[in-house]
Amino acid sequence: MAKIIDGRAVSLKVKDSVKNEIAENKLDVSLAVVIVGDNSASRIYVNNKKKACEYCGIISHEYALPESTSEDELLQLVEALNNDDKINGILVQLPLPKHINENRIIERISPIKDVDAFHAENVGKIMIGNYSFLPCTPAGVMELIHSTGVLVKGKECVVIGRSNIVGKPMAMLLLHEDATVTICHSKTENLAEVCSRADVLVSAVGIAEFVKPEMVKQGAVVIDVGMNRNADGKLCGDVCFDEVEKKASFITPVPGGVGPMTIAMLMKNTLMARKIQK
Ligand code: GUN
Repeated sequence: MAKIIDGRAVSLKVKDSVKNEIAENKLDVSLAVVIVGDNSASRIYVNNKKKACEYCGIISHEYALPESTSEDELLQLVEALNNDDKINGILVQLPLPKHINENRIIERISPIKDVDAFHAENVGKIMIGNYSFLPCTPAGVMELIHSTGVLVKGKECVVIGRSNIVGKPMAMLLLHEDATVTICHSKTENLAEVCSRADVLVSAVGIAEFVKPEMVKQGAVVIDVGMNRNADGKLCGDVCFDEVEKKASFITPVPGGVGPMTIAMLMKNTLMARKIQK
């Protein structure tokens, strides 16, 4: 039976270290959070990010714009936040409405305020291994893996999903720690067979109950980045938790696994932004 990785407990440690550093050094740290339209999931994420800021002593400024906001208007806001010395971090919550080109917005955010690490300059720095910011979700997953005491060095690590936000940077962070990394995706042949070789399996596909027990090696560390609703409307990850739990050595729950870590790493990046700016 797997040990459950407590993402809330690990995230609290990260947030406490940010909070203490801010308090001890009496730092003014601020984050601008931009949300466009009324996507209910985005609203929940943004509220949780604001709550975490409050906990850590980071000042958050919310910019809630209507769905009808044009790309130019959003670019102007980003530009104003780039030029505002009182703002250390800028987060534009994704997804944006369809009429706005997300890449154009991300590329306008100043790389030194890009606390999501989505800007091409920051992505490139991560590839090279010389970075200020790590993308929040993959960095949070690495913290969770570290919390198990399992070293990924030399191990078979499989990432399911190849998004720019999670899958691709996740593979890179595992590689930085000398793992042997495979990325699987919707076109992968023998996906179940590839996954079943993994000592560490990270799923970021966004499909409820996608990872079945036969895809999991006995004793594997299983990290579930998914946040889905099952047929009954219940919040669940990508992994068939009840069955996979019996095979894994460690497993993250949903909720209470990766989700809180993403927010904690955002707090860490916002403090880092303050440090590299001053
Ligand atoms: N939407 C889902 N996850 C994220 C994230 O980590 N950052 C931003 N900006 N939007 C998201």
